[in-house]
Amino acid sequence: MSSSVVVSQTVAELRARLDAERSAGRTIGLVPTMGALHGGHASLVARALSMCDVVVTSIFVNPRQFGPGEDLGSYPKMLDDDIGALADLGCQHVWIPSTGEMYPEGYGTRVELDGPTDVLCGVTRATHFGGVLTVVLKLFNQVGPEVAFFGQKDYQQALLIRLMVRDLDVPVRIEVCPTVREPDGLAMSSRNRYLSPEEREQAAALNRTLGALEEAWRAGETDAARLMGFARAFIGRSPLVRIDYLEIRDPATLAVRDGPVRAGDLVAVAAFVGSARLIDNRQLTDG
Ligand code: PAJ
Repeated sequence: MSSSVVVSQTVAELRARLDAERSAGRTIGLVPTMGALHGGHASLVARALSMCDVVVTSIFVNPRQFGPGEDLGSYPKMLDDDIGALADLGCQHVWIPSTGEMYPEGYGTRVELDGPTDVLCGVTRATHFGGVLTVVLKLFNQVGPEVAFFGQKDYQQALLIRLMVRDLDVPVRIEVCPTVREPDGLAMSSRNRYLSPEEREQAAALNRTLGALEEAWRAGETDAARLMGFARAFIGRSPLVRIDYLEIRDPATLAVRDGPVRAGDLVAVAAFVGSARLIDNRQLTDG
């Protein structure tokens, strides 16, 4: 059963509608997305609806976070399906700015953070996080949410957003929600639709490798280099998966783990499978 959902396409109409919600005493939650919605996005919307009176989901494929040669031109677009899915979920507002509305003629400001933007995904995607932080800050200013919802799947992104919010005194609370997975463990992603059936099957090796590394750690191996060697050999059994990075890092600073690997440490992986670049991570637990 779908309820009605209000679609805004300009900052002015969005602000007027959300001001009316606020005047009626309603709290506002924001779920930023790039569309091509899947169960991961749906889980964020569901969490937002459980915590806020009104939920705004933004859909904007942000050109500033794509590098040259990345998939900006081919990023899946399915607006009608997305709006229908959001209505079914009970989301009340969808914010769909055009690129010109988000970055009008003469636009020139960029958020830069002196934090861990140049490690993990920042190595191969040098301008990526500056683009993410810029658009997320704009979304916060456009919507003015009490709470904004992000996924643990993009661990580094969520961490950097928390740092930006802290540094710039942005009045929003950040909620990070668990990664939603396909039955074989593959983290849901809009980019999974790029995979051929064979690639799709092997892509599950990402999460299986994180699990195997965690098992080895639980069995007593705490040396990071040996754990990573083991994990690389494990993933090597899936020849269509080409590792971009596989690392164990401090979950708060993203510094390389130098001593023994411990509970809470972040194991993060990025890999190319066919033309898709997929990421996943897990924080080690004692089980
Ligand atoms: P997008 O990839 O569409 O993801 C939107 C949100 O959904 C992000 O917070 C992401 O972490 C979360 N998400 C994606 N897959 C998930 C999964 N399997 N389980 C749980 N959450 C998941 O991330 C972006 O868009 C953009 O960078 C954005 C923040 C919108 C800025 O442009």
